[in-house]
Amino acid sequence: MKKYIITLTLTLFCSSTLFAADTKILPAPNAGDVTFTHKKHQDRLKVCTACHKDAKGGKIEKLSQKNEAHNLCKGCHETKKSGPTRCAECHKKNR
Ligand code: HEC
Ligand code: HEC
Ligand code: HEC
Repeated sequence: MKKYIITLTLTLFCSSTLFAADTKILPAPNAGDVTFTHKKHQDRLKVCTACHKDAKGGKIEKLSQKNEAHNLCKGCHETKKSGPTRCAECHKKNR
């Protein structure tokens, strides 16, 4: 039983470090920052490589290119016919 609890604790600890923070703010100084629900996307998409180069995750170079960022994010929302596709649904003006 004790062994089981240790394993469980380790599993929870490892997955919480492997899986990045729940919500990310993607800075867009002109259009307004984009709040991205990382955890929700991970859960619904299952595969990390839907966005990342490999399953380790990390910085996504594409995001610094407006068109590529839009192709990635909006592109998938359009293909799946779910998820925001209008500017103001993603970009929130900073107050
Ligand atoms: C699905 C979400 C989404 C939608 C819809 C969307 N964008 Fe973006 N946009 C992003 C992301 C993500 C970035 C990249 C942010 C980053 O690199 O930090 C971005 C970047 C930008 C940038 C460059 C950063 C800046 O502020 O100068 C502009 C301008 C922009 N978008 C305008 C628009 C306009 C105009 C529309 C509607 C026609 C639109 N976006 C629709 C997610 C979206
Ligand atoms: C729908 C797209 C998407 C999916 C799917 C996704 N991520 Fe991410 N992930 C992002 C974005 C966007 C960032 C922020 C990147 C940036 O700022 O350049 C990010 C950042 C990260 C980071 C960097 C650390 C941090 O918290 O900023 C890690 C690690 C990471 N993701 C791991 C994963 C893993 C592991 C999976 C699969 C279980 C995954 N991601 C699935 C979009 C995604
Ligand atoms: C491979 C597909 C895919 C990619 C890539 C993707 N999304 Fe999504 N996104 C979805 C789906 C599916 C939904 C769920 C829509 C629903 O349930 O109504 C969603 C929902 C959202 C929502 C609404 C809040 C939420 O999480 O339910 C936001 C905001 C969003 N996405 C932003 C982004 C941004 C910003 C990016 C790029 C960094 C991105 N998405 C990349 C598939 C994707």
